[in-house]
Amino acid sequence: MNLVHKIKAMQRLGRQWREAGKEVVLVPTMGCLHRGHASLMERARKLAGPKGRVVVSVYVNPRQFGPKEDFARYPRNLKGDARLCRAAGVDVVFAPEDAEMYPADCSTTVQEEELAGGMEGAARPGHFRGVTTVVAKLFNLVLPAAAVFGAKDYQQAAVIRRMTRDLNFPVKIVVAPTLREADGLAMSSRNQYLSIAQREQATVLWQAIQRAQEAVARRPVAASRLRQETARTIAAQPEARLDYVEFFDPDTLQPVKLARPGTHMALAVFVGRTRLIDNGRL
Ligand code: PAF
Repeated sequence: MNLVHKIKAMQRLGRQWREAGKEVVLVPTMGCLHRGHASLMERARKLAGPKGRVVVSVYVNPRQFGPKEDFARYPRNLKGDARLCRAAGVDVVFAPEDAEMYPADCSTTVQEEELAGGMEGAARPGHFRGVTTVVAKLFNLVLPAAAVFGAKDYQQAAVIRRMTRDLNFPVKIVVAPTLREADGLAMSSRNQYLSIAQREQATVLWQAIQRAQEAVARRPVAASRLRQETARTIAAQPEARLDYVEFFDPDTLQPVKLARPGTHMALAVFVGRTRLIDNGRL
């Protein structure tokens, strides 16, 4: 496995592989990789086939963090990431440098204008512009035929899919299921910020999703009622604070008034200072 830092070296590889007709699959990450990421790599390996190439990008993208967010303290562990990637059969870890990704006069961004507005987009202004800009750059640098993203970031996957279609990137977007700990907590690099007590309380996101699933399985329920119930479930945990919960159409991401089986639910919750997100189909 190769560790590539330089943009020119990554571009050279991408071009060589394309000329040789190799199927290249990219897994974009911000590092601090865990089993959830390993499952994305497994999926990528299958898509690429034995003769293809799997690239994992490891880049904590400064442009998708707000000024008061956790960019500086976001966990970084390139050595551990490289180990996990090697074990997962990855061909190249691409870990570019900030100065090359964003030279001082870099003045172009990519913005999706419809799906990126609500939920994470409303709670984290500028976040999705940062995501779509870096993902577009990674597509241009690696020249993948497919890219694999995790379903935990449901809105992100929808925004990236739309951007890919709108800008005609010849890249197939694959979304792989969320991996959960035994108690239901969705795997995330941010889980490691949690104290032992907070870690226990963090299962409340999954509990809230399950409660909503049970409620709509019986009959359609007003989203306003489910929102209240979710707020109550979250408030029962002393260190948890609901940032938002939304019930929406899984394709358009438009909020619905009445939630029924097939409606999608997404929520963001602060547990202490750590902001966690999760989502599920009702
Ligand atoms: O989901 C992530 O880890 C990031 O948002 C991504 C897609 C790697 C872009 O920086």
